[in-house]
Amino acid sequence: MEQVINIQDIPVIELIRSAQEARKKAYVPYSGYAVGAAVLTRELRIYTGCNIENASYTPTICAERCAISKAVSEGSRKLKAIAVVGGPKEENGSQFAFPCGVCRQVMREFADPDEFLVITAKNEQEYRIYSLSQLLPESFGPDNLIEGGIK
Ligand code: THU
Repeated sequence: MEQVINIQDIPVIELIRSAQEARKKAYVPYSGYAVGAAVLTRELRIYTGCNIENASYTPTICAERCAISKAVSEGSRKLKAIAVVGGPKEENGSQFAFPCGVCRQVMREFADPDEFLVITAKNEQEYRIYSLSQLLPESFGPDNLIEGGIK
């Protein structure tokens, strides 16, 4: 069955612009791959993030988890959408960047996978929108462990 994606009430262009702004702050001395993300909360607030690399590699945090951590640490646990922009830092809009598997699982923690939208953008005109269910099908989440899910 083809999935119907509802983009009503999602400020797609504002999210893309916010992600582009955040990408400028990416700290990527090792990969040179700069990512920006902007997440929209249920309260319609936007939190942004960039990837932050580390000389010891493992502590690197992706842009998406940076943005989600900011939202959750400010008290927002219900997320509606995220925009992601990424690619080699000297290039703008050269590719569609998709969230890694770890970030998809972190989105799953704080979102309804059928409702949450992932927007990957080259720029304000060229973007693709997916539901989290499309990117993380048959997922495991809080509802497997906590009755009623996250509050
Ligand atoms: N990266 C992200 O920020 N988001 C993703 O979903 C994919 C990967 C970052 C991590 C690392 O700093 C660089 O991109 C190359 O993997």
